[in-house]
Amino acid sequence: MTIPVIAIDGPSASGKGTVAARVALALGFHYLDSGAIYRVTAYAAQQRGVALDDEGALATLAAGLDLRFDGVEVWLNGVAVGDAIRTEEAGRAASQIAAKPQVRAALLDLQHAFRKAPGLVTDGRDMGSVVFPDATLKIFLTATATERANRRYKQLIEKGFGANLSALLQDLQERDARDAARAAAPLKKTADARLLETSSMGIDDAVNWVLEAYAAAL
Ligand code: C5P
Repeated sequence: MTIPVIAIDGPSASGKGTVAARVALALGFHYLDSGAIYRVTAYAAQQRGVALDDEGALATLAAGLDLRFDGVEVWLNGVAVGDAIRTEEAGRAASQIAAKPQVRAALLDLQHAFRKAPGLVTDGRDMGSVVFPDATLKIFLTATATERANRRYKQLIEKGFGANLSALLQDLQERDARDAARAAAPLKKTADARLLETSSMGIDDAVNWVLEAYAAAL
């Protein structure tokens, strides 16, 4: 029997990570935040002085990453890097290297390894289109750019970081434009994905929506 996968793709700060983690918890499934893999790859490159446009060197680095996930924490070579990779700057660097086909190819096996019984919930940009094309359920989760910038703003303020709403909005739009325009695994809703627009929906409702869609898909 194939191991079920729920693939949740969508733009930056749409809340897909929170929804995916909650769905995984409700179902007792594993969870993969694929964005963290791109973020940590960019972080490792910066640490080792690998240029963000050196595709070959980045791919070699990506293929040899010593990564461990433990809840929301991410360990690189035994060092916790969760906070360091979740800054806006790290997101921008991740988006730059994520446009490179050799980097994406080098990270495929790592992502496939998360597909373990009893099931996987994963979020990213190409989970349903490229990494797990046979997913049981594919969802494209989105919200307007203004709403997403507002959510990211609140999140940063709650964590005690400074934030500027208009800079955040511009950053999100630039990152989404780059993610959607690239030739390799662009951000886009595939025909077989269900659209979940969450601009005026709370997290609980979004989680229930996914759980109901999954039950219906079985
Ligand atoms: O989801 P998150 O904002 O953490 O992702 C950071 C960046 O990593 C995205 O802007 C995108 O460029 C890249 N990414 C990707 N494919 C994925 C997940 C993330 O290209 N499956």
